[in-house]
Amino acid sequence: MSAQPFPSRRTVLNSAGLAAVTICLAGCAPAAAGTTSSGSGPTTVKAAEIPVGGGRIVGQFVVTQPKAGTYEAFGYLCTHQNLPVQRVTDAAIVCGRHGSSFSLADGSVLTGPAEKALTRATVTADGDTLTIS
Ligand code: FES
Repeated sequence: MSAQPFPSRRTVLNSAGLAAVTICLAGCAPAAAGTTSSGSGPTTVKAAEIPVGGGRIVGQFVVTQPKAGTYEAFGYLCTHQNLPVQRVTDAAIVCGRHGSSFSLADGSVLTGPAEKALTRATVTADGDTLTIS
């Protein structure tokens, strides 16, 4: 039996389906209500969406409100292995990959293995909209 010079119809259809899934995973995730993000550029979020004594991951940033009316922001990449942190609790910004956690107030390390604080970002308030850059 000789090899086929062209891919079979099944191979072509499977490849097209995989490509469609890959494209959708990259661009079909719904944005959270009230937020805008354009990759690594400035991101906006409604101040009311950031809980007092907690925070949220917004685009490529973590936005916190350690006390009422005080907003802080940090890059979302854990300083241990440069992977995205996973969640924000009422106690810390948490990277569950290896257990590091960071302060809501200044991004400093609370528990390792990370040794460096999260990278600070700038928060600018305009009415009820926060712009993070
Ligand atoms: S990448 Fe965050 S703790 Fe290892």
